[in-house]
Amino acid sequence: MVGHSKIETLLDWLRNNAKMDPSDARRFLEDLKIGIEDLAPWKLEGHPHEYSYGRTVIEEGKKYELMVVTWLPDDFSMIHNHGDASWGVVQIFGGLEHNSYSCKNRHLTLLGNSKVQEGQILGISPQLIHQMGNTTDQVIVSLHLYWNNDPQGAITANTFLYDVVNEQILTVDGGAFYALKEEWVLKADPILTSSPEILEQEKSRLAHRQRLITS
Ligand SMILES: [Fe+2]
Repeated sequence: MVGHSKIETLLDWLRNNAKMDPSDARRFLEDLKIGIEDLAPWKLEGHPHEYSYGRTVIEEGKKYELMVVTWLPDDFSMIHNHGDASWGVVQIFGGLEHNSYSCKNRHLTLLGNSKVQEGQILGISPQLIHQMGNTTDQVIVSLHLYWNNDPQGAITANTFLYDVVNEQILTVDGGAFYALKEEWVLKADPILTSSPEILEQEKSRLAHRQRLITS
């Protein structure tokens, strides 16, 4: 590799800091001014249909995971939280759609819907339940940093997926993928309701993914 890339600078900083909070990470990313070209080595040209988006882990340290996600047109994550992660920051290089939700008494409602701005950094808190997806006709990449102050396993172990179509909350250790293979599900908790709008949207996103998988 020629020179010291911005991603190597970020990795050096992560490796050398046992403690940090999300505002440190946000400031570091803002100062580093990462561009889409810096993520090129981890950008995927495509991904298996079984995955709802492309996922390339750059490095998993003791307390952090750094990952590049490649969103093809119509790629959507399932609605999810971030499990055991203490916090995260996600920098997005394109106009992804971002939905946030609230789940009270096992009922899911939409809190907000927005279009992310190029280069925007989103904060991930333990309370955040969200979904990201690509409604454009361009491939979009995003850089994801997750931090766990006291990891008991994977940095984002015990992630919940809100499977509103099948009215259940799934526990996984990996990606927030639709139509998960059974072996990827650690636990399925029945009972999850949602508004009709969320249900219709999730039905169509699941059907889209299932069509791709069986095509
Ligand atoms: Fe997320």
